Amino acid sequence: MTQDELKRLVGQAAADYVKQHVPEGSVIGVGTGSTANCFIDAIAADRARYRGAVSSSEASTERLRGHGIEVFDLNQIDSLPVYVDGADEINALGHMVKGGGGALTREKIVASVAMTFVCVVDASKRVPVLGLFPLPVEVIPMAQASVARALTAMGGTPQARVRADGSPYVTDNGCTILDVRGLQILDPVAFETSVNQIPGVVTVGLFAQRGADLCLMGTTAGVEMTDYRN
Ligand code: A5P
Repeated sequence: MTQDELKRLVGQAAADYVKQHVPEGSVIGVGTGSTANCFIDAIAADRARYRGAVSSSEASTERLRGHGIEVFDLNQIDSLPVYVDGADEINALGHMVKGGGGALTREKIVASVAMTFVCVVDASKRVPVLGLFPLPVEVIPMAQASVARALTAMGGTPQARVRADGSPYVTDNGCTILDVRGLQILDPVAFETSVNQIPGVVTVGLFAQRGADLCLMGTTAGVEMTDYRN
């Protein structure tokens, strides 16, 4: 199977999981990226079952609305039974690196109010140690250089993200992103705390303190489910 086929497989598996475990009339949390898109497409057939969704990006909002799924502002919602999103890397404890698509801040916010975080990935995202994928850090633009120096002192090699035309990448929140290479994140929970403490950091794309509860991983042998709550 190709990587795209594996993504479609887990997108459908997540839609089946949500249908089975989430009460009718619920609002569900929806992530960002190509795998999350497969989930959005897979729930479209069942859209009448849900009251709507809270989205983690403008791109996902547009896709959800394109399928006729109502999108709520998070401030209108007290809690979400589930949040479904992809990841750039996931380790054996359900800690993740996220933000390759630039939506890390809204992803972390929406995930924080969800009861269950379901991570949907293809098998290429499984790693023994996080850090091979450059760690995205969203920063307040005036602090980009000072945050970069602090990240360098922590052993990384930060580089400001740019668009294909060379212009600075700007997030949905009007901030910039530093992608940090050269890390071997042996203690993801502690590292997340350390990066969070640098003045000017909006969000680090390390999801360890609130990691995944479940992972649905697309492999050539089918969908593998891991429950980290056990
Ligand atoms: C978006 O900002 C990211 O956190 C995505 O969830 C992550 O990059 C995975 O994306 P793909 O599903 O496209 O690989």
